[in-house]
Order: sequence, then C-alpha cells, then structure tokens
Amino acid sequence: MMKKIIGRFGTYNNLIKNWYLIVLFNVLLLLILLGYRYYPMEVLSQLSSSTTTAADAFHITNSNNDTNMTSIHDQDPIAMYRSSIQDNDDYAVEAAMLQLFPSRASDIIRSVEDTRAQFFLFRPFWSWWHSQQTWKQHILSSNISDQHLPEDVVGTGSNPCGSPESLPLSLLRRIVATNLELPSTFNHGNPTRIKEPFLYITRVGTKHICVQAILPEPPVNTTFMMDHYLYQPANEQLSSTSSPWWDSIMVSALNIDTDASMPIHMEPWKGHALLRKEWMKHRGDKPHFMLELESMMHERRTIHVYEGSIKLLDPGRYHFDARIEYQEAKWNFEKGPIVPYRPQQIMHIYPEDYIDVPIQHSYEDNEKDDNEYSLLRHIVKQHMELPYCTRTDLSGRWLPSAVLSATEEPAALDIRNKFWAPYNCRLRRISYQDFGACLEKKYPHGIDAFGDSNTRRMIKKIITHGRWCDDWSFVANTFGKPNEQIGSARNDNHPPPKNQSTDPLNWDYIGDELQLRACYCEDYKEPGWNKEWFDVEKRKMLVWVGNQTNGVHLRSYKWDGLTYLNNPSWNTSFNQTAIRQHAPGDVAIVSIGNWDAAFMTVEQFQKELDELVDLIHRRYRYSTLVIYRTPQYYCCRVDATDRYRHISGQRVQLFDQLAREQFQQRIHNLMIWDTFTMGESRNWDEKQASNGCASNHVSADVVEVENQVLMNALCNAK
Ligand SMILES: *[C@@H]1O[C@H](CO)[C@@H](O)[C@H](O)[C@H]1NC(C)=O
Ligand SMILES: *[C@@H]1O[C@H](CO)[C@@H](O)[C@H](O)[C@H]1NC(C)=O
Ligand SMILES: *[C@@H]1O[C@H](CO)[C@@H](O)[C@H](O)[C@H]1NC(C)=O
Ligand SMILES: *[C@@H]1O[C@H](CO)[C@@H](O)[C@H](O)[C@H]1NC(C)=O
Ligand SMILES: *[C@@H]1O[C@H](CO)[C@@H](O)[C@H](O)[C@H]1NC(C)=O
Ligand SMILES: *[C@@H]1O[C@H](CO)[C@@H](O)[C@H](O)[C@H]1NC(C)=O
Ligand SMILES: *[C@@H]1O[C@H](CO)[C@@H](O)[C@H](O)[C@H]1NC(C)=O
Ligand SMILES: *[C@@H]1O[C@H](CO)[C@@H](O)[C@H](O)[C@H]1NC(C)=O
Repeated sequence: MMKKIIGRFGTYNNLIKNWYLIVLFNVLLLLILLGYRYYPMEVLSQLSSSTTTAADAFHITNSNNDTNMTSIHDQDPIAMYRSSIQDNDDYAVEAAMLQLFPSRASDIIRSVEDTRAQFFLFRPFWSWWHSQQTWKQHILSSNISDQHLPEDVVGTGSNPCGSPESLPLSLLRRIVATNLELPSTFNHGNPTRIKEPFLYITRVGTKHICVQAILPEPPVNTTFMMDHYLYQPANEQLSSTSSPWWDSIMVSALNIDTDASMPIHMEPWKGHALLRKEWMKHRGDKPHFMLELESMMHERRTIHVYEGSIKLLDPGRYHFDARIEYQEAKWNFEKGPIVPYRPQQIMHIYPEDYIDVPIQHSYEDNEKDDNEYSLLRHIVKQHMELPYCTRTDLSGRWLPSAVLSATEEPAALDIRNKFWAPYNCRLRRISYQDFGACLEKKYPHGIDAFGDSNTRRMIKKIITHGRWCDDWSFVANTFGKPNEQIGSARNDNHPPPKNQSTDPLNWDYIGDELQLRACYCEDYKEPGWNKEWFDVEKRKMLVWVGNQTNGVHLRSYKWDGLTYLNNPSWNTSFNQTAIRQHAPGDVAIVSIGNWDAAFMTVEQFQKELDELVDLIHRRYRYSTLVIYRTPQYYCCRVDATDRYRHISGQRVQLFDQLAREQFQQRIHNLMIWDTFTMGESRNWDEKQASNGCASNHVSADVVEVENQVLMNALCNAK
C-alpha cells in the first residue's frame, strides 16, 4: 500500500520536473479548442471582385432581354460552388439554397466556409455552441432591413417584406431543410427546432411595417386522423399559393393611444412556390396529378411562413395581436365537418417592444399642454378637417368620440360611442330626408337592391328615417339584462306590449323583448314591425326613400345569395323583374356572399357568379352606378345551430375575394360598398359581439354607420 502511494508521488514528481510538458500540452489543447483555422475564401473574393454582385446576377437573368452571355458568366462562381458541394450530404441544404435563392449566395457560402474552417475533430463542439443560439437570437441580432442584404432585396414602400429570400439566413435554412426533407447533418448556424409559432416585425422608415409569421409543423393528432386529409384550400389558392391557404391567422396592429385596431392581411410567403417546385422535381417520374397530390399531402404539414404589411398612418404606440385560427385548411368546411373555433394566440412576437410612430411636428406647437387625450385629439382633429367621402370602399378605423369638440359631428356612433373614420376623408351626418332629396336630383330612376337580410335591415332604417332600433342599447339596459339574454325567454311579469304606431316615422319600442333582439340580431319576425311598411316575406317590394315631397323608389329584391335556396331561382326572378316590371334604376346594389359562403361550394358559386355578373352587366350597363356590397365580416365562432352553415372567416374572405374580382373585371361603373372592413377593423373583444347571433347580423347602430357610408358616397360626389 505504501508503495503505491510512493509510486503516485513519483509520477507527480516526474511531472513537476517536466513542467514544460504540461505547458506544452495545455497550449496544444487551447489551440485545438480554438481550432478555427484560417481558410481563404476564394469564391467569396471572386464574387465580390466581379463587377456585378450575386444579387445583380440574379436579377439580370430574370429580366427577359438578351443579357445571355454576361449573366451566365456572372453566375459561374455560384454554379461552380454549388456543384462542388451538392454531392456532399453535409451541404445538401446549402446547395438547394444556392439554387433557389441565388441572391443570398454570398451569405450562404460564407456560412459554409465558416464551418469548414472549424477544426474537424471539434466540429461537434462548435455545432453545439451554435445550436445554443436559437432562431430568436438570430432574428433579434440581425437588422433585417439594413444589415446583410443587397439593397434591392429589401422591401420598400408598397412591399416592405421584400423578396422571398429576405428571411434571416438561419430561418431560411431551417425552412429549406424541413420542407425539402433534406438531410441536415451540418449544424452550423442552424437554429434549434422551431417549437412554437412566432411573429416578427421589421420596419422600413417610420410607418411601413412588415409582419412575418412562422408556423412550425402542426402537431399530429391521431384522434382526428380520419377527417384530417379531407380539408384543403380551394384549388386556385392552393396552386397559386395565395390566401386563404393552409393556415388562417388573424393579425392586427392595435394603436394603444386611439384604441383602434388595424387588420393585417397575411399572404403565404412567396418562397413556398419555389420550394414546392423543387420538391416535386425530386419525386421521380410520376404522372402530374400524382405529384400534385403528393406535394399537397406533404405541404400541409411543413413549416409555413406568412407575411403581410401595413402602413401605420396614425401616430401612437402600437402593439400586435396574432391568433392562429385553423391549420391544415380546417377552416374549409366545404371539404370536411365543421371544426370548433379554438384560436391559439401567438405569444412570441419579436421585437417584443411596442412600436412608436411619432407625431408630425406641427402638432407640438399649439397643443402640447392638452390633457391625456392630446394624441387622440390631434388625430381626431386632423380627421375632421378632411374633405367629405365620395366612395364606399374606404379603409379606416373606429375612433372614440369622447374627444370630439361640440362643433364636430360624426355621421353616426356605435354602441361603444365610436365612430367610423376613413383615413382619407370624413363622413358627415346625412338625414334620410336629405338622402331622398339628393337621390331625386342625382339618381331620379331610383335604386334597385338585390340582397339578403342585411339589405332588409338597411331598408328598415331607410323607411323609418333612422328611428328603427335607435338607441337600442339604452333600451336594453333598462331591461337590465346583458344582450345575450334578451329574447331568450319571455318575462311573464312584463306588461303586455303596446301597439306599434301606423306611421313608420314614429316607430317605437312596444315592450317586447324579441323586438330588442331584432335590433342586434334576428329581425325576420320582429314584433311590432308593420307588414304594410315593408313585407319581409315577399321577394319583391317597392319602398320610398325620402319624405313625401322629395325622394325616389327603391325596388328591393330579396334573395338568399345565389344559393339553391331561392325559389324561384335567382336568375329567373332577375329576368322577370328586368323584363316585365321597370326600367333599370340609376343605382343597383348587389349584396352577396353571406349565404353563399354558408351553403355553396366555391365551384358552384363561381358558376353562378359568372352568370350574375353577366346579367348585371347587360342590365345596368347604362346605369350610373353598380354597387357590390361585401358580405359581413365573420369571426370568432362556427355555426352550431341546426342550419349547419359551412361558414368560417376564411370562407367569407374567399367568397368576397372571388366576387370582388369578377365585378371589378367586368363592371366598369362599379363601386364596392366595403362593410367587411368595418367589422374586420375591430379589436378582439369587440369582435366577440356577434357571437350570440347565428345569422351574423350587425346591430342596428352599425347598420346606421354602414348606411351613412353609402349615403355619403352617393350624395357628396358632384
Ligand atoms: C432590355 O429591355 C429594356 C426595356 O425592357 C430595353 O430598354 C433595352 O433596350 C433592352 N436591352 C436590350 C439589349 O435589348
Ligand atoms: C444572346 O442571344 C441572342 C439570341 O437569343 C443572340 O442573338 C445574341 O448574339 C446573344 N448575345 C451574345 C452577346 O451572345
Ligand atoms: C440595427 O440598426 C439600428 C439602427 O438602424 C442600429 O442602431 C443597431 O446597432 C443595429 N443593430 C445591429 C445588430 O446591427
Ligand atoms: C385531438 O383532437 C381531439 C378532437 O378535437 C381533441 O379532443 C384532443 O384534445 C386532441 N389531442 C391533442 C393531443 O391535441
Ligand atoms: C323633404 O325633404 C327635403 C330635403 O330634406 C326638405 O327640403 C323638404 O322640406 C321636405 N319636405 C317635407 C314636406 O317635409
Ligand atoms: C291595439 O290594437 C288593437 C286592434 O288593432 C286594439 O283592439 C287595442 O285596443 C289596441 N291596444 C292599445 C293599448 O291601444
Ligand atoms: C338559373 O339558375 C339555376 C340554379 O340557380 C340553374 O340551374 C339554371 O341553369 C339557371 N338558368 C339559366 C338559364 O342559366
Ligand atoms: C335571362 O335573360 C338572359 C338574356 O337576357 C338569358 O340569356 C338567360 O337565359 C335568362 N335566364 C333565365 C333563367 O331565364
């Protein structure tokens, strides 16, 4: 035993004697750990020394005139480099990236060379080190708009998100590797697996914002396996990679200072089309339909990127709200059973800070000492100085009326005391009397209105000169019940309803709770509504707009969209009214989309729409105006009633898109009455208001706002 210890001491003594060996060993270890060999980057220097950059080369090949020789020559280094790495599985992803996104060539090559420069034995160490730097840090550390991109790749003005390759490199790499199913052994600069959806925001200038949403592969749910593959986007959106696509995401920018919410329309990232083509190329020789089917099955479960942009026009402090409503096209109830609405809020938004849009300078001079409303007051004051609106297709925001001065009158207020404020113009309050008088002057042949229950609600306001359901929320409060409960049960202790006036201008509450329900939801069987004013059961009705002396006729034709539910079919009655009854009105208002999205397939709708637009064109070619009224915004629920409406937010969006396109292409005297955007520009809490209403009607106060938009457009134009 003693010997052993002495032996050990002996070794120790030996080491101390040969201390220089230890120092040498440690220095070696240090050298190896640091082992970052210097590696001359020939290709890179070649790229930068040639007269054009990689990005230029890419753009030149894309332009179609004869730059044949020069561009091929300039691409040479990239192509050569790619062929040198593409057979190596370690660099399969980089090879694919070089091919798909040549304008990022120098970044890609630099990152490969960087890895190669690491000492072979210790590469696992470096890989581990890099994998600790998550995608989050990658995004936060990269100044996307001005750091490592060639200038023309960065988006500006109308296209702040820039070209597909403007994603941070590590993210781009992750997406290419996953979506092309490439071996991903080379780990350098590779972010760790994306576990949760996230959103990141980049900024061009002070007002333009680009929002990108990254959605990892959707989780597998084996219970749902059978239905799973039924769902898919509509054919055209699927093949053109446009929205509504596989996922539905609701993204909005909220201005904290004004309480206004701005929707941001998200479109699939353009790189998805490139990736799909590339993926199909490597699936071997198969008939085209097989390839399409396979790529669809594959694509539904890959990483998806969406992008959208917005110009933040109001000064103030913004934050962002994003929710994933459905993935794997489960919004499309045309294909499979209705899926419950359970949106998942995206919690990771980078940078997490708020975004501030500064105020213009002129403001500082006179109003600095105002109260807490000063910023809002500034916005409202500027708005109130705008000229009157002459169109119905206006994007805008809802602003609180609290800061209006005594002389500033909004056109109409909703029950939250907000008013609709388009960005480029303002609405004035127009009475239905004045509306009639103005129509008589400008559109003496009157209005033809084709529409559903939303048109009926508009007409109720016209007939009663705005009296219908005026102040309904105030009355509802005196019943002392929250809105959802009104009309759900009759109160036996309630005094018997009083009789309704015979004059629509004296419309009044009769004390029946169902009448109140009609004000914010279903009004088909409204108690106290007089059939002689307007019979809601009749398909055709003639009403008067204005007072006895000044006004025009409004011919209303009721239909349930272009669905099979119309009896007789909508086209037959369209023809009958056209030929037999009257000359076309000066204005035609056509409202579709609500019933159609609920009860039709996209294909049926396209067919009927085609016929409709054709008939409208023939009949209203010489009229002053054709107005397409959009469907109502739909959100935050699905139909659980026995009507089993196949409706979802994305389906309404899709049907609206199709109708707009057709009308815009073929009707030259068109105006779009965009009621959709008014519902979409609400914040999450406000959007819940429609939840208790299966027929998706907006309440009477909003009907009034919609009507004011129409009346302003018709009467303010010269
Ligand atoms: C290339 O196209 C541009 C316009 O598209 C044209 O002005 C130019 O002359 C063309 N160049 C050649 C070499 O044809
Ligand atoms: C480019 O191609 C065109 C034909 O497409 C040819 O006429 C022309 O000579 C080529 N340019 C050069 C510089 O080779
Ligand atoms: C990003 O850009 C801002 C301003 O353009 C600059 O202050 C900041 O240092 C940049 N950050 C990095 C990591 O380059
Ligand atoms: C799978 O789907 C079913 C039905 O919607 C649901 O009840 C269940 O919670 C889901 N499971 C997982 C793991 O998400
Ligand atoms: C009808 O309305 C017009 C326009 O508002 C008004 O000038 C006129 O006096 C009204 N006539 C009657 C009888 O109320
Ligand atoms: C309501 O009208 C009915 C018949 O139209 C009449 O019998 C009744 O007395 C009226 N009630 C009131 C309170 O006026
Ligand atoms: C009218 O519409 C119905 C379906 O709504 C359709 O079956 C019929 O073919 C259409 N008629 C004409 C002449 O297009
Ligand atoms: C309606 O009239 C048009 C011609 O004006 C005709 O082509 C079409 O077939 C008619 N549709 C129906 C359903 O009668």
